[in-house]
Amino acid sequence: MILLSISIFWLSVCVDPISADPHITVEAHVGSTALLPCHLSKDFTQTPHIQWRADDKIVFERNIDRTDDGKGYKGRVDVPEDELRKGNCSLVLKDVRITDHTFYTSFVLKHVKATNTKKTQEINRVHLNVFQRVSAQVGSTAVLPCDWRHLSIQTPHVEWRIGDETVFKRLGKESFQGEGYKGRVDVPEDELRKGNCSLLLKDVRITDHTFYRFHLFLLAEMKYYPKAKEINTVKLDVVQSVSAQVGSTAVLPCDWRHMSIQTPHVEWRIGDEIVFERLGKDSFQGEGYEGRVDVPEEELLKGNCSLVLKNVRVTDETLYSSYILMMDTKKSVLVQKVKLSVSEKPEVMDDDPSAPPGE
Ligand SMILES: *[C@@H]1O[C@H](CO)[C@@H](O)[C@H](O)[C@H]1NC(C)=O
Ligand SMILES: *[C@@H]1O[C@H](CO)[C@@H](O)[C@H](O)[C@H]1NC(C)=O
Ligand SMILES: *[C@@H]1O[C@H](CO)[C@@H](O)[C@H](O)[C@H]1NC(C)=O
Repeated sequence: MILLSISIFWLSVCVDPISADPHITVEAHVGSTALLPCHLSKDFTQTPHIQWRADDKIVFERNIDRTDDGKGYKGRVDVPEDELRKGNCSLVLKDVRITDHTFYTSFVLKHVKATNTKKTQEINRVHLNVFQRVSAQVGSTAVLPCDWRHLSIQTPHVEWRIGDETVFKRLGKESFQGEGYKGRVDVPEDELRKGNCSLLLKDVRITDHTFYRFHLFLLAEMKYYPKAKEINTVKLDVVQSVSAQVGSTAVLPCDWRHMSIQTPHVEWRIGDEIVFERLGKDSFQGEGYEGRVDVPEEELLKGNCSLVLKNVRVTDETLYSSYILMMDTKKSVLVQKVKLSVSEKPEVMDDDPSAPPGE
């Protein structure tokens, strides 16, 4: 499992099918820091008394003179005071855990003098979607972890999905494999009975790189339509391996044809360090890569973000990641991870091996 030092979040406003209340969804991976957005309207002139709750339990509270971290959130939560004064009531949640996956609501508390009670006013609702990251090599077998042992269900009807598309479905002995996953996916029945709903994904392909969500359907309530409970989200990072010889030219593959982007802005990085960047005609070559790297503009316009690395050196051996930078949101989206292995040139024989051994 690879945890990136930078965290990529994205926000989307969606409608919860149950409550039909609009809310914000924030996605964060296990171990990262999540920011649950919240903004106070101009009505609040002094530092307000703020509270964040999750399923009615207090997560964090800030009053004029004190702060409180809720049970299970000790040392992991904050609404910085300076930000709060500016009307920014966003919750900073560090070291995100799987169990943090839930609904969060922020409130502002106002003291009502007459009754000496506090009036709470809801500000914002945020759904935090916590996901796990799994990294797999092209061609290998990946296990997307999932566990429902904590739930007591007789006949589970389980499904792994990518958005609305089914990857794998199992109901008892019957199973279904989605298009593009035929013969490659399974949640073994015996494992499922033990409460292990992990998805086994064989012969991993570059195109498998995405979010997989696991849903459990509660059959008892299936009268009209089954009630689905989302249990787990796993992000599969597919890593491609490329090998090259010292002195040769390597092409690190990258393809964003499936994304619709007007003005492509691509970046290739090693960790946080930029190797190459291109925005239209402008490009930048990182230190140690001057004159050796390019993502040709005409290729980029076709959706081919492959990096051409000339005159490969032994020190180039590492993990490279390509990102597309979104113009509107200023966020970078990971497109591809490529592991480059560099081998020495086969040694050139000084002696002609066919020559008879000398005296
Ligand atoms: C709100 O505060 C958080 C940290 O508490 C910060 O990361 C974020 O950028 C702030 N948002 C705005 C709009 O200032
Ligand atoms: C769960 O099942 C997968 C394969 O289906 C297996 O690889 C994994 O080891 C199992 N995990 C546990 C905790 O048994
Ligand atoms: C993508 O670009 C690289 C170099 O820029 C090239 O070698 C490769 O053939 C291109 N791939 C496709 C599918 O066009």
